[in-house]
Parts: sequence; structure tokens; C-alpha cells
Amino acid sequence: MNLSFTLRPLVPSDHEAAARLLHRSLVTWYQSRLGQGARFGDSHEPFRLFPEVYASLDPGQAVAAVDADSGDLLGVCFVHPRETHVAVGIVATSPEAQGRGVARAMVSPVLDDARRRGLPVRLVSSLLNLDSFSLYSRLGFVPHTFYQDLAISVPVAGLAAAPPQGAERVHSVTDVAEAARLADFEQAWQGIRRERDYAFFLRNQVGAWDVWALEDAAGALEGFLVASQHPSCVMLGPGVARDEATAAALLWRALDAMRGLSPVFLVPCAAAGLVQQCYAWGARNVELHAAQASGPISPSRGIAFPTFLPETG
Ligand SMILES: CC(C)(COP(=O)(O)OP(=O)(O)OC[C@H]1O[C@@H](n2cnc3c(N)ncnc32)[C@H](O)[C@@H]1OP(=O)(O)O)[C@@H](O)C(=O)NCCC(=O)NCCS
Repeated sequence: MNLSFTLRPLVPSDHEAAARLLHRSLVTWYQSRLGQGARFGDSHEPFRLFPEVYASLDPGQAVAAVDADSGDLLGVCFVHPRETHVAVGIVATSPEAQGRGVARAMVSPVLDDARRRGLPVRLVSSLLNLDSFSLYSRLGFVPHTFYQDLAISVPVAGLAAAPPQGAERVHSVTDVAEAARLADFEQAWQGIRRERDYAFFLRNQVGAWDVWALEDAAGALEGFLVASQHPSCVMLGPGVARDEATAAALLWRALDAMRGLSPVFLVPCAAAGLVQQCYAWGARNVELHAAQASGPISPSRGIAFPTFLPETG
């Protein structure tokens, strides 16, 4: 059957349909291929957070693919232009329309536009979802860092293990004026900049965010970590740390503030000591992700914690 569709910006009146599409496409894909549909829950309601956060952060940037006849939503693709790159967030096609070029049509103009502006495009893609990995690989994305997604149930009484060194110095950041400092740090260590994201977390008006930071004795930033406490997305990240010990201190403090919750977070597979530390706290592997980029990316140092909301890579 031929599929005729058009692309247009996603608008707030699409949010309900977008939440339903995200939920249905994820449940259907992961259930039919991996028998893991249940991990996305039985309601689309939590998925409203995604278009809402993205509309607030990047108004008018998300792409909708709609059926040319009925106007029904067939696909969504979230786009985040930043100072140093363009990030692509969740891409999803309705189960009935998959395999017919909808995702390629949504992502291709983003790549063309970034190329014109001389910016790389970055994202994180699931390695359990080969359709998504293949889509991005076909479009020229190249993996540069591999991450393991870890989930941990934080007991109501807190993690049983003693806090790692430095955890006692991790403090909460709430001042919006700190956004530039966090962005400067990420740029220095990871080669990407997105000050608006940090101002968004610190303003804390859409979603429910905590921002944690660790500084040395002279007050210089050693790392920071954002945590989403919103029931629709209990997740740590984004964050950057100068080394594994700093990353462990930030993680421990952020987890301690999530007692009774089961957050997920992404840790670089290459950060072997940090991974072992997380296992010792009780973390379990639940997914694998690859950070992929189209176009040259700046060299990076330290430990990055990517997230899906808003997507980094
Ligand atoms: C991943 C997803 C968005 C792809 O959407 P889609 O509309 O079906 O994708 P398209 O039809 O545009 O294109 C898929 C491309 O990947 C290619 N592809 C798919 N499987 C492949 C494989 N195993 N090897 C190589 N290429 C493959 C297709 O040939 C096509 O490339 P082409 O246009 O050059 O022929 C869709 O499967 C989906 O919504 N999944 C559930 C939600 C999800 O997991 N999203 C991604 C995680 S955020």
C-alpha cells in the first residue's frame, strides 16, 4: 500500500496524539521484537511529558509526519538546535506506517539543515532496537561512545553501601545564573554547549529537576549531574564529570535523593571502575545505547551522562 504523508511542525494540539503514538510505537516494537513491551507501561499519559518538555525548550522544532488524506499523526521527531550541534530526540513512527520511509523523511531535512549551518547532528540510539540503529547508520551517523543503561531501586532507607569519597561535598544548585557555568564546563570537557538546557532545568517549571554539582577546594567545578524526578521520567542525566571518582560521588548523591524510586542512568561502558561501583550499589543492566554523530565532533574528556529528555548524545 502506498503511504502518502506530509511533514509539518508538531503543535501543542498534537501533544495527546504524539503521546499516544510514542507509547504505542515503543510498546509494539519492543513487544513484537523482544517481548519487552511491558517496560513502557500500559498508559500513554506519562509520554505527554516528552512533547511538553520539548515544546517548552525548542518551540516549533519538533517534526510531525501526517497522513496526507486523514491528517492522522504517523510519526514524530524531536529536534534541538544547540550552540555547537543539533540533537535529535525520540524518533517514532506509528506501527502501521513503519518501514515506509517516514522516519527517514523526518530526519533527513534536519541533517540537511545542520549541514548548511556547519553543525554536527548528535543522538543516542538503542542498540537493542536495530531498526533505529540502522535508520541512523543509513543516514550517515557513526557511533562514537557506547553506554550501558543501568537501573537501580533505591531503598527507602537509602543505598546500603557507604558513600564514595566526595559525595559529602556534592551540593544542590538552584540559581538560574549558574547555567552558564555548567555549560562552560560541558564545553570544556565534552566539546558541546547547551546553556539553555541548564537554564531550563534550573528554572524547573516543566518537569521536576534536581541539579547537583561538585567543586574543588578552590571552587572550580569538577562535575555536575541533573536528575529528573518527574514520575514520567525517573532518570539521571545529563551530566559531566572530570573523572570516575567525581562521577561516582555525583551519582551517589543524586541516587540518595531518590529514595524509594528506581531511576535509570547511562554510564560509558569504558568507565569500567564506575560501572563496577554501580553494580556494587545494586544497579542492573537494562539497555545499551550508542552515541552517534553525523559530521565531525569535538574531542571529549571526562565522563558524560547522556539522557533521553532532552536528548544529548
Ligand atoms: C525506529 C523507527 C523510528 C524507524 O521508523 P521507520 O519509519 O520504520 O523507518 P524508515 O522506513 O524511514 O527507514 C528505516 C531505514 O532503516 C533501514 N533498515 C531497517 N532495518 C535495517 C537493517 N536491519 N539493516 C539495514 N538497514 C535497515 C531501512 O531500509 C530504511 O533505510 P532506507 O530508507 O535507506 O531503505 C521505528 O521502527 C519506530 O518507531 N520504532 C519504535 C520507536 C523507537 O524505538 N524509536 C527509536 C528509539 S528513540
